[in-house]
Amino acid sequence: MAKFALPKNSQVKDGKTHSACTPETKRKRTISVYRWSPDDDENPRVDSYEIDLDQCGPMVLDALIHIKNNIDSTLTFRRSCREGVCGSCAMNIDGTNTLACTKHLNDIDGEVDISPLPHLPVVKDLVPDLTHVYAQLAAIEPWLKTESPAPQRERLQSPEDANKLNGDDGHGPAACILCFSCSTSCPSYWWNGDKFMGPAVLLQAHRWLEDTRDEAAGERLDQLEDPFRLYRCHTIMNCTNTCPKGLNPAKAIAEIKKKMVSRKV
Ligand code: SF4
Ligand code: FES
Repeated sequence: MAKFALPKNSQVKDGKTHSACTPETKRKRTISVYRWSPDDDENPRVDSYEIDLDQCGPMVLDALIHIKNNIDSTLTFRRSCREGVCGSCAMNIDGTNTLACTKHLNDIDGEVDISPLPHLPVVKDLVPDLTHVYAQLAAIEPWLKTESPAPQRERLQSPEDANKLNGDDGHGPAACILCFSCSTSCPSYWWNGDKFMGPAVLLQAHRWLEDTRDEAAGERLDQLEDPFRLYRCHTIMNCTNTCPKGLNPAKAIAEIKKKMVSRKV
């Protein structure tokens, strides 16, 4: 049987162990974090941090901020809103892509393993390079496109039409925060991410196709009519299973495929 090994410079090594606990610490937790810096020639490594939960907030992001502020200021990660609306703290926690700010430490058994979103280049530590996914997002032109003359005031929508975007339960495509947890959990995107748009971007394409004010549906579908951009989705469903906002990118992709078929009959 063929055996494969990672190139030597990408093998993940054991890293350093840091402890902020004392013999008096009652509630210890170990957080293991992927570390890699472009500033030296070292391999990636996994550092372990022992923290005192009584000194730290309840979420995984609180643990990372506690480590950065009190134990190791070199640890690098993105975060902004701290309440699940900006999407910047997306990372792989305990084997699942999710948001560090809404993931409770109590929901994880044992050691907490944290690594960057998979299958994206790493800028540093937990920060993935999103250049390519943003270029794909720009390619679907995620803004209102119209040909009819602009009205005196805004283009209105009925509540029913607005619900197609927002969803009756608030889980419609407009609720996407572009964290890219879904795209980076998708095997089709791992293997063909150069040409397959991936679930996050296709959910956005669906959002504009569903918008009753938009007048470029034909052009948008033409742009996706391609063996890779849309049809590399094989309904694996990792995207929907992992979405930390409870959205359904797999269904959005299926809706685009239905539109492709119905415009031909
Ligand atoms: S669909 Fe969900 S997982 Fe995907 S980018 Fe939007 S919020 Fe993130
Ligand atoms: S910090 Fe904004 S979603 Fe987590």
